[in-house]
Amino acid sequence: MSSGDSDGSVRGGQESPSGADGRPLAGQVVVVTGGARAIGREIAVRIAAAGAAVAILDLENSEETIEAVRSRGAEAMALRADVSDPETVGQAMSTVAGLMGRIDGLVNNAGLYVSLERRPFWEIPAEEWDRVMAVNTRSVFICSAAVVPHMRQRSGGRIVNISSDVVTFGMPNLLHYVASKGAVSTMTRSMARELGPFGIGVNSVGPGLVTTEITEQTIPEVYRKEIAAEQCIAELIRPADVAATVAFLLSPAARMISGQTVLVNGGASMGGV
Ligand SMILES: NC(=O)c1ccc[n+]([C@@H]2O[C@H](COP(=O)([O-])OP(=O)(O)OC[C@H]3O[C@@H](n4cnc5c(N)ncnc54)[C@H](O)[C@@H]3O)[C@@H](O)[C@H]2O)c1
Repeated sequence: MSSGDSDGSVRGGQESPSGADGRPLAGQVVVVTGGARAIGREIAVRIAAAGAAVAILDLENSEETIEAVRSRGAEAMALRADVSDPETVGQAMSTVAGLMGRIDGLVNNAGLYVSLERRPFWEIPAEEWDRVMAVNTRSVFICSAAVVPHMRQRSGGRIVNISSDVVTFGMPNLLHYVASKGAVSTMTRSMARELGPFGIGVNSVGPGLVTTEITEQTIPEVYRKEIAAEQCIAELIRPADVAATVAFLLSPAARMISGQTVLVNGGASMGGV
């Protein structure tokens, strides 16, 4: 792990007791994995606007996200870390807790999706299967396990795992991805059962196809519009739609919601995970 694009220092707004300034996440410290760009970036900015101090863990440079978070008056830090590596993640969470004083929330967002080649499952190399499982599924186990001691110390916390709505209706030519996200949704339920007694709520969010700066470049508009046309609300899904749901699930208003997968897909499919 290295502090890479950040010196690891905490700058920006002042910490305040939870909710003291009227914002739902005021006083909270939230770790967002994969926050350098796209959906993760939007989550970081949205929860900063709701009052949270934000720590980003990403393989890439997160400086742009950090600047966007600080421009909302929130504290921010970034660490370069591979979320599939337990040692790196353990060190990163300790660094966050040391510099920011606590960890109240974790958003397991980092994942491989847009870069994956679509192909029949019998043509997927086993090494690629393992890589997708490591980044999309094992990371959720590793990052969540690493924050549990910090959350237990404070007798509470919220974890939000980013899954996908493909777990409800399958998807051809991305079997490793679908399997990795199916595991995230089912892990969410078991983690919710294990962590509930410690005051920790765990949920997942399952977006449909989201129009990000990356999917805009890599997925043809005609295909994105075809997908949207199948939704009850036939509009393109934006990162902000996902981020707003994540912010809600991190907030005290969602106190009694745990073990759920909330689909943010315009009603394209309806639960049954
Ligand atoms: N984009 C969509 O349409 C869509 C739909 C449903 C679910 N999702 C899920 O939402 C999440 C974010 O998707 P996105 O489209 O914003 O992805 P993205 O590929 O644009 O961004 C992912 C981020 O994760 C980081 N990352 C990747 N591997 C990492 C690792 N090993 N360690 C640390 N950081 C790592 C990347 O550097 C990047 O910043 C993913 O879990 C994805 O599966 C996306």
